[in-house]
Amino acid sequence: MAVQAENVHASVLLAETVQLLAPKPGDVFVDATLGLGGHTKALLETEATLRVIGIDQDVEAMKLAKDRLKYFGDRVEFRQGNFADIRKIVDSADGILADLGVSSLQFDSETRGFSFRFDAPLDMRMDAEGEDETAAEMLERLSEEEIANIIYGYGEERFSRRIARRIVERRNTGSPVRTTKELAELVERSVPRKPKDKIHPATKTFQALRIAVNRELEVLEGFLKDSIDLLRPNGRLAIISFHSLEDRMVKQAFLKASGKCQCPPRIPQCICGAAKQVEILTKKPITAGDDELDVNPRSRSAKLRAVRKLG
Ligand SMILES: C[S@@+](CC[C@H](N)C(=O)[O-])C[C@H]1O[C@@H](n2cnc3c(N)ncnc32)[C@H](O)[C@@H]1O
Ligand SMILES: [Zn+2]
Repeated sequence: MAVQAENVHASVLLAETVQLLAPKPGDVFVDATLGLGGHTKALLETEATLRVIGIDQDVEAMKLAKDRLKYFGDRVEFRQGNFADIRKIVDSADGILADLGVSSLQFDSETRGFSFRFDAPLDMRMDAEGEDETAAEMLERLSEEEIANIIYGYGEERFSRRIARRIVERRNTGSPVRTTKELAELVERSVPRKPKDKIHPATKTFQALRIAVNRELEVLEGFLKDSIDLLRPNGRLAIISFHSLEDRMVKQAFLKASGKCQCPPRIPQCICGAAKQVEILTKKPITAGDDELDVNPRSRSAKLRAVRKLG
């Protein structure tokens, strides 16, 4: 069935992002998480001479974005790959955007294993054609403690140990968890459920595994540093994050690049390498207003932060 891009992903904090990135005539931007191209489209429409290099690791998203953005012709270039490699993709940019996490296209896929709403192989790779390990393979390889740490660390799941124990018990009986349904049922049986709970008991576990499979936090750290380095004078970097650990990483990277030492207290000498490269444009993160919250539930946890490279 053909997917209508317009219906599958509502871009988050769109107007706010365009305003902060403030494209100028002749600028070259990088959209590091092109997805279905919603932010790129809005940026290209705002400034008629802007060009955008769009990166995404998801082949399927890239195809849809190409179709959706074909109207703009050679003002958009498409690069399938991981934004961890941004330095290999561009030498410099006037604006860089990353709208992190998964798209609705991925989350609503019936086959890619991101959601317990559909029974599918437990895959969860955004780059489904890459060589990296799937979630099922990861759960077969890691120790019980490592699995528990992922579920606790990235999912803030209080019952992480119990879930990890059951995953490993199942594995030891020769029938490891291989599908979304098997994992969702295992979590449901491991977690006491209160009638008031609005979210499915497996939500946190699925989120945690997705972050681990795609190494989302490791990749972000290097990307933030590289992006700040690659910005031309007065260039801008905007990041939309959906997880408190991501937002903390963005906030600290921006503070450090604004010259504020991020070393732990009582260290005699700064070792974090803080140096004044940017001005912070968002003292507090920008969040969605009521209008957006009403129509796009995904905007609930979105936080937008931006910096401007000094001249
Ligand atoms: C939230 S969606 C972006 C939606 C897009 N801003 C729009 O308006 O249509 C995030 C996209 O980033 C991609 N992505 C996430 N992490 C990535 C990474 N490390 N490298 C490349 N693409 C990544 C995902 O595959 C997904 O398509
Ligand atoms: Zn320091």
